[in-house]
Amino acid sequence: MTDIEIPRPTSGDVIELILDDHRLFENLLRECRRSDTDRAAAREALAELLVAHAVAEEEKVYPELRRARAIGAHEEEHGEEEHAEINEALLAFLEAKGTDTKKYDAALEELATAVNHHAGEEETDILNPAREDLSIDRRESLGVAWATRRNQLLEEGCASAEQVAALIAEAVDEGVLAPEEAREEADAVKDAAKEKAKEIEEAAKK
Ligand SMILES: [Fe+2]
Ligand SMILES: [Fe+2]
Repeated sequence: MTDIEIPRPTSGDVIELILDDHRLFENLLRECRRSDTDRAAAREALAELLVAHAVAEEEKVYPELRRARAIGAHEEEHGEEEHAEINEALLAFLEAKGTDTKKYDAALEELATAVNHHAGEEETDILNPAREDLSIDRRESLGVAWATRRNQLLEEGCASAEQVAALIAEAVDEGVLAPEEAREEADAVKDAAKEKAKEIEEAAKK
């Protein structure tokens, strides 16, 4: 349980409900940054909301948008991949011991970058097509389904470090997220290629 009360709407247009949560993410990120607040409580509330929001999207919203052909497999998979990346950044944030350390600040900003990036893409590539392709009736019944699942997860508690680590492991198992070593290797290859390109460019200048 957290000291910060997270609103629990039970009905509405799913698109507006999701947008409200995206605004709430921003507010909670800001609460986590302030030095005159209970940062531990803000961090816990942000973690719970991020996980409940995304799990409910993956279970209730994305599949329904696929069925309505508002989005394709690519948008769904990309959304899930970004949720997994947010969970990785969230885990690092939860594992920062104190709330007044450099590690806390750095992990918070990494998380903020991942969350803001995903919210922007989801609003453009998923919510906009949903608004165009789904009737208001369908958006409202989806709103109930999504909010019910989200609120249930909030009620149960869904974002301890162990729970977030389990979600990340599941994403790797399902192939949503590449294992960390594979990504490190890919980054090393990319860096080497960049280095090579720079060398070639330099050589061409001479
Ligand atoms: Fe979202
Ligand atoms: Fe999302």
